[in-house]
Amino acid sequence: DDELDAVARDILISNDRGGYTIPTDGLYPFQWNWDSAFAAWGFSTFDAHRAWTELETLFSAQWATGMVPHIVFHKEDDGYFPGPEVWGVGTTPATSGISQPPVAAILARLIHDRVDGTERLRALYPKMLAWHRWWRESRMAHGITCVTHPWESGRDNCPDWDPGMVNVDTSGIGPYQRRDTGHVDAAMRPGKADYDRYLAMVKFGRDCGWDQKRIRDDGPFLMGDPAITFILIRANRDLAAIAETLGEDGSEPAAWADEMEEALPWLWNRDLQAYAARDVRTGVFASAISSGAALGLLAGVENAQMEAHLAEMWDRVRYGIPSNDPAAPSFEPRRYWRGPTWPVVNALIAVGLKSAGRDADEARLRRETAELIRQGGFFEYFDPMDGTACGGNRFTWTAAIWLAWAN
Ligand code: DGY
Repeated sequence: DDELDAVARDILISNDRGGYTIPTDGLYPFQWNWDSAFAAWGFSTFDAHRAWTELETLFSAQWATGMVPHIVFHKEDDGYFPGPEVWGVGTTPATSGISQPPVAAILARLIHDRVDGTERLRALYPKMLAWHRWWRESRMAHGITCVTHPWESGRDNCPDWDPGMVNVDTSGIGPYQRRDTGHVDAAMRPGKADYDRYLAMVKFGRDCGWDQKRIRDDGPFLMGDPAITFILIRANRDLAAIAETLGEDGSEPAAWADEMEEALPWLWNRDLQAYAARDVRTGVFASAISSGAALGLLAGVENAQMEAHLAEMWDRVRYGIPSNDPAAPSFEPRRYWRGPTWPVVNALIAVGLKSAGRDADEARLRRETAELIRQGGFFEYFDPMDGTACGGNRFTWTAAIWLAWAN
């Protein structure tokens, strides 16, 4: 494993573009929001200064509204579509117009537990607080955190979004050329019908000048996301803990977390006996359990029925928590978020298992994820049945998680 540690460090260093880290060369040539928070965690195992810099660079692109965008286009690169001209947000640096799972406070706390940097954490604190406030003001319905685009969820083509995707009108989008399928096998990526809808949502945002209130109230897509809801509950509690370390008053984020927890019944799908994504406009639930629901433990939410379903789902595969239940008709073991297991989600679930004192399950999840990496390399995601490595290679967050677990 020493050799793999060295490879993982080399991946982080070679994906470093000068203060920020790209997720993988070719497929994702810019700074991505939640990828960066994990990159920082990985860097903290061998370069504390560089770890804090990663978070600082990400937050340097924060909008005046508090939103931290999902992509920061620091330098031009035409290997990616849709680029800055398609988003048309008009900021410097150019960014996308949506956000991504708010994991930064969770990772910042873990990094601060490991290395020095209290003053750098102190400077980040109000920025993280402003971002969490933005989620509350711009992405809430029924007290639940919502996403206005599957890319905002970070779990792009997960069946969680199917109920909302069917209602997205694609008649207004012109011709376009995808770039992702030039880097990765198309069978491991979202389909064309998905991309048409992704672009229709981007067009709506651009056409209304990224007016986030209009996007929430009148946009083509709005779904309650169990994963971001659980992540934000945890991130708010971590922010409150950070505040305490800094001698600040963390009662505000602590209260936000409690309020969100009280709203969770709106996401409870009685048919599934599980938390599930739900369309805000129609009330329709996603019809299968996803790995998003497994993040409940990260938020300290315990629920026996839910736990039993997740345990069954885990036992249906060989490696890791699958992104979609193998028993569901929508399960596709290699197609991006419709079945594969993702080290990034496994890492967050493992943090939750650890907090809940579930040591044996945490060890199992880490062991299965590490096994995939040993067999297949530092890939973006894996077939949970046979372990086939999928998506981008030399992937930053996979390397970062390996390092954080090993060191
Ligand atoms: C992509 O382009 O596939 C990304 O997931 C969008 O963030």
